[in-house]
Amino acid sequence: MQYNRIKDVLATEPLQQKIEVRGWLRTRRNTRDFSFLEINDGSCLANLQVIATPDLANYEAIVLKLHTGCSLRVTGELQESPAKGQKVELHAGTIEVYGWADPDVYPLQKKRHSYEFLRTIAHLRPRTNSLGALARIRSSLSHGVHQFFREQGFVNVHTPIITTIDCEGAGDMFKVVAPSHTLQEKTDAAANTHFFGKPANLTVSGQLQAEVYAMALGKVYTFGPTFRAENSNTSRHLAEFWMVEPEMAFCDLAENMDLAESFLKYLVHHVLENDAQDLQLFAKFIDKKLYAKLQMITDKPFCRISYTEAVNMLQKSGKNFEFPVQWGTDLQAEHERYLCEEIFDQPVFVIDYPKDIKPFYMRVNDDNRTVAAMDLLVPGIGEIIGGSQREERYDVLCTRMKEMHLNLDEYRWYLDLRNFGTAPHAGFGLGFERFLQFVTSMNNIRDVIPFPRAPGSALY
Ligand code: 4AD
Ligand code: MG
Repeated sequence: MQYNRIKDVLATEPLQQKIEVRGWLRTRRNTRDFSFLEINDGSCLANLQVIATPDLANYEAIVLKLHTGCSLRVTGELQESPAKGQKVELHAGTIEVYGWADPDVYPLQKKRHSYEFLRTIAHLRPRTNSLGALARIRSSLSHGVHQFFREQGFVNVHTPIITTIDCEGAGDMFKVVAPSHTLQEKTDAAANTHFFGKPANLTVSGQLQAEVYAMALGKVYTFGPTFRAENSNTSRHLAEFWMVEPEMAFCDLAENMDLAESFLKYLVHHVLENDAQDLQLFAKFIDKKLYAKLQMITDKPFCRISYTEAVNMLQKSGKNFEFPVQWGTDLQAEHERYLCEEIFDQPVFVIDYPKDIKPFYMRVNDDNRTVAAMDLLVPGIGEIIGGSQREERYDVLCTRMKEMHLNLDEYRWYLDLRNFGTAPHAGFGLGFERFLQFVTSMNNIRDVIPFPRAPGSALY
């Protein structure tokens, strides 16, 4: 099944060649003498312009009835285009219809639709310019993630999606249950109530399992879907999102920040180099300052401040926040954004958070009040990365887990890593959708993932 992809056709352009394209009709326009068809096949943002003349055998019967949304196969000859804004056009020799789209009911008309509306037709929205561009950028950045870690010598580990632990200790987990008829077929008592012999859930993070592999392979990363049953109906939260989580043995918090910083710089270079045309769409229609924002990532080193310094700065700012700032409470999105947008105007790592507001696995600092945590805050988003140095000291970890009322028996394997050849280690998690939001300036996180899952909404 050989046919030409429009992206390649537009990039190579040896003229007079015979080509065949397959795609969806975006628009059709008639002049007195012929029809212009704009075809998009999803390979790139640009359409290919097709000239259909009345000498086509099916001109009257078919071509003049074509409407937005129908799928076509067109063969013909590529020629230089006299029109502005495009170098080539296809002079059709044959046009065949794969499938029609009734113009009275096809929901995607030529006008711009709101993203809210497009979310209600998630099966058709990838055919729009911006959602198509997002899908390509997402794919390209996913590739960039793997490329970065591969170049840095990291091993990709596929951590489980079904787990029996709570990594973040926040309890925001979806339960995994088997249908009762499956359970009744089982004979042992434990399995009668739980398919896996104990309660199971969808993972909130692959970190703890990544730690296992880091403590054997040195440098690993996992990149997969994670799930949070928090009732956060915001433009930055999803119930199902993708997270990139590297984990490094023999590594402290400063080296962890170095990795996070070079990772983000790499990804921004990657998207600028590989997705220029798609990115341009967002710079033109969504955020006129997009390139300046991306340049801020590539050109300047990120700031690094402690939580205590951040709290002091916020308190001194005189700004009236909805949530008051107080040492010991977590930073809210408004505080995070104020720090990186107003005070620093660049990405900021905030480190050494109070231990009481962070999970059990973070390494306790010498002050015994804070932990070696790091959050990276970026303009427009707030927290985009959360990470830490992990507690590698067996006794300290046990004490902390007891303080947090965790059942140590369930984490025996995790504690074992501290008994057998323990070492300093660290890692972080990048919210992939938050990063995509940053790169495209899309306002709502539900528009940077193909099928968003959020409280009250999971189409298909
Ligand atoms: O800060 P979080 O909760 O960190 C962890 O899960 C660690 N176990 C990661 C690690 O150290 N390996 O989440 C990491 C990132 C956040 O900074 C944010 O970008 C994103 O994941 N995130 C979400 N993205 C979309 N929707 C949600 N509900 C998110 N919750 C977190
Ligand atoms: Mg976090």
